[in-house]
Amino acid sequence: MRILVVDDEAVALSSVRRLLKRKGFSDVDICDSGKEAISRIRSKDYDVALIDLLMPGIDGLQVIEAAKPYAPTTEFIMLTAVEDATVAFKALHLGAYDYLVKPVDNDRLLLSIERAYERKGLLACIGQGKPEDSGFEVPDAFSNMITQYPPMKGLLSYAEIMARSGTPILITGESGTGKELIARGIHHSGLNPKGPFVAVNMASVPETLFESQFFGHTRGAFTGAEKDMAGYFEQANGGTLFLDEIGELSMNLQAKLLRVLEEKTVVRIGDSRGISISVRIVSATNQNLDKACQEGKFRLDLLYRLKSAHIHLPPLRERGKDILLLASHFLKQACIRHNKQISGFSAEALNLLSLEPFPGNVRELNQWVEQAALLSNSDLIQPQNLNPKAANQPAGFVRTLCSLKENDEIHTAFVLAHTGGNRRQAAHILGVSVRQIQRKLIQMKENPRLKPLISEFL
Ligand SMILES: Nc1ncnc2c1ncn2[C@@H]1O[C@H](COP(=O)(O)OP(=O)(O)OP(=O)(O)O)[C@@H](O)[C@H]1O
Ligand SMILES: [Mg+2]
Repeated sequence: MRILVVDDEAVALSSVRRLLKRKGFSDVDICDSGKEAISRIRSKDYDVALIDLLMPGIDGLQVIEAAKPYAPTTEFIMLTAVEDATVAFKALHLGAYDYLVKPVDNDRLLLSIERAYERKGLLACIGQGKPEDSGFEVPDAFSNMITQYPPMKGLLSYAEIMARSGTPILITGESGTGKELIARGIHHSGLNPKGPFVAVNMASVPETLFESQFFGHTRGAFTGAEKDMAGYFEQANGGTLFLDEIGELSMNLQAKLLRVLEEKTVVRIGDSRGISISVRIVSATNQNLDKACQEGKFRLDLLYRLKSAHIHLPPLRERGKDILLLASHFLKQACIRHNKQISGFSAEALNLLSLEPFPGNVRELNQWVEQAALLSNSDLIQPQNLNPKAANQPAGFVRTLCSLKENDEIHTAFVLAHTGGNRRQAAHILGVSVRQIQRKLIQMKENPRLKPLISEFL
């Protein structure tokens, strides 16, 4: 693991370096100014950078801001002498992984470094003896998650490792990014895949029924309690309890939930016996819980409990050619469901899909494709099938966004995604030569808009 430590105080630098060396980290660089830190991070591929906030000249936040875009895989940990929520928030917002207040406890520092490193998914590589930059494969338990986007594959490998550890996992991401799907994958690759998987939507639990639903009740415990009932914790015992939309839980109920997580025991209403429970907790939210904590809407102690490991699912629009891959997958499914014969998307339709922001992410894409399959009465899905707005646009609408040449290239990328990168097969489908495919790939590589679509085939 390559680590950079940045601090303007020589004493702090050498003591952290000593600690890391003692713990077996051999590749540790140090530097004492923000300016030097930026150039080092830009030029060497560090796994983790520990950065002091307050430094004369360029401070820690400025270092992250200037260096992060050049080092997307470096994890930043911010160290600071003063606890300041605004700065912590800013650091996390800029992409820092953690924020530690000095004097930092050695174990806390090492834990943070290890977590940051695990987050990169690198441990998976080491475990399998793969070189760091080789692609991850989607683990079996997540095989219903369609993706070829390398960071997503890395996330899934990380999820698999964390699943095996049994620690609570928090999944964040916009609506429709696949949080529930990944939660189920975690259950399947976890310690007890045959145990129950109980999913609870926190937003739909009424405040007054929380205890009876989560802890259960005995017969006659209250009016209407006609028989004994096990709560969600008991139902999920020996398996996974998925707490969806955890950000919706009121402060009052957060305290109750925290108590159970700490004591690992529930007592049914109307009973005095404690029932010990062994449940793996996976929670999900599309809210920013760090921010909610700062605003006093979410308990920090509960967040720490839930977030031993954290998985953030990127929005679909950032996953390159996954959009086209998923579209093709959903189209096949829709054709089977509706007994339709549609062989694919027109180049313009593909173009439209690859430029859409999809605020509802994978779920929205699925709905679009489903609707298009129903509306289409030809062999190929057309833009107006996908989005009625496209039909109302002047004829050149899609083409004004991208040239015909780009259209053609996007189509090639789509076919390549379909063939898993096999150029010969793609050439056959498109009726062109392998050399022509090769030439298109070179051209697409030069086009920053198209490069992400083909990065994996280069
Ligand atoms: N990578 C993927 N491959 C295939 N299907 C996917 C993928 N990601 C999500 N889906 C599908 O998209 C839909 C939405 O996924 P899911 O319900 O897991 O999202 P979510 O993040 O929990 O959304 P919300 O925040 O709205 O609850 C589901 O039908 C799911 O099966
Ligand atoms: Mg969900």
